[in-house]
Amino acid sequence: MRFKITTLPGDGIGPEVTAEALRVLQTVSGIHGLRFDFEEHAIGGIAIKNHGAPLPRTTLDACLSSDAVLLGAVGAPEHDRLPPNRRPEAGLLMIRSALGGYANLRPAISYSSIAACSPLRNEITCGTDILIVRELLGGLYFGEPRGISGTNENAVASNTMRYSVAEIERVAKVAFEAARKRRGKVTSVDKANVLETSQLWRQTVIRVSQNYPDVTLEHLYVDACAMHLMANPRRFDVLLTENLFGDILSDEAAVITGSLGMLASATIGGAVGLYEPVHGSAPDIAGKNIANPCGAIASAAMMLRHSFNLEQEAADVELAIEHVLEAGYRTPDIAEGTGGYVVKTAEMGERICEAVTEIADMRHAYHAV
Ligand code: NAD
Ligand code: IPM
Ligand code: MN
Repeated sequence: MRFKITTLPGDGIGPEVTAEALRVLQTVSGIHGLRFDFEEHAIGGIAIKNHGAPLPRTTLDACLSSDAVLLGAVGAPEHDRLPPNRRPEAGLLMIRSALGGYANLRPAISYSSIAACSPLRNEITCGTDILIVRELLGGLYFGEPRGISGTNENAVASNTMRYSVAEIERVAKVAFEAARKRRGKVTSVDKANVLETSQLWRQTVIRVSQNYPDVTLEHLYVDACAMHLMANPRRFDVLLTENLFGDILSDEAAVITGSLGMLASATIGGAVGLYEPVHGSAPDIAGKNIANPCGAIASAAMMLRHSFNLEQEAADVELAIEHVLEAGYRTPDIAEGTGGYVVKTAEMGERICEAVTEIADMRHAYHAV
């Protein structure tokens, strides 16, 4: 089997973590006789610098003609004063929109070997396994009209939170289908006590739920949800929410796992799947080879599952991450209080590759007897 993967390392720690995700994909392809053709392109700040735009045409065309896209992160302090449509982040929003994926899956799993690095107590986080399903192409991120009028003290800025029934239905279906394969519960998160978009969201989710009588549906307001996530994360199975709430709640959920560097994501439903860690370009640690590559590597695993239908290979990579954490290897962000050895980004990637090979060898040996 042959797949074309476009890689968009981007800015800050993006290239560092993407390199490790690539290394793992190469290991997987070597073991299983797959052929991955990688093609690297520019996005974000580096694209502004080298091509004058956050999403150059060549990058867009390469992504549209590939089987999947793996992205690192975008954003750099030197671009922080640009207007939204010229910033590195605009490149990310444009590629999301062009690829068409509307359901952004963000798993947040607490691994017992690194539970101690979470500021939350072990008995709170232990066993947490949440799948956040974030709507990715609607809401305030894309709603029109938007902009700033007037100047100085007379300036007025506005954004529009907009959702159609169709946009809510399609992402809700993804959440219910996912819950069916998990523990059978969807928590839909909105602000229906204040916002019309949320009222439509809630009504539509309730209607979709009628096709899934085997799945339990509950509703939470987003403010209360933020509290429950910290107080009792195990109450959640699938958490379904709109774009901005999902952005915020997924960074909050990272606290349960111990680090934002652990979180992966897959964006599905469009023409081409997009895979990116949840974290950003982390300028505070960029260039030091200390970033945690687990989120990027787990995003590559999600690519194997969702774009290539390689479930076993995906599960092996996820298990390899777990094994390496259990063996005591940690990047600095997940080291505090957990014991073990602090290693660099690249070594973490190498260890995960070794574990992927060991897991495959063990299965091979098992089937041989
Ligand atoms: P951030 O996610 O980059 O960093 C937040 C904190 O988490 C920092 O202290 C950082 O060091 C730490 N962190 C993040 N990823 C880590 C990893 N893999 N290993 C270890 N520590 C890690 O968020 P921010 O600082 O608010 O934003 C920085 C830039 O990234 C901004 O320009 C922002 O717009 C952009 N951003 C991009 C994406 C994306 O490309 N998907 C996501 C979020 C933020
Ligand atoms: C994320 C990021 C992006 C978002 C930014 C960089 C546009 O925070 O992927 O979580 O808000 O979606
Ligand atoms: Mn975010």
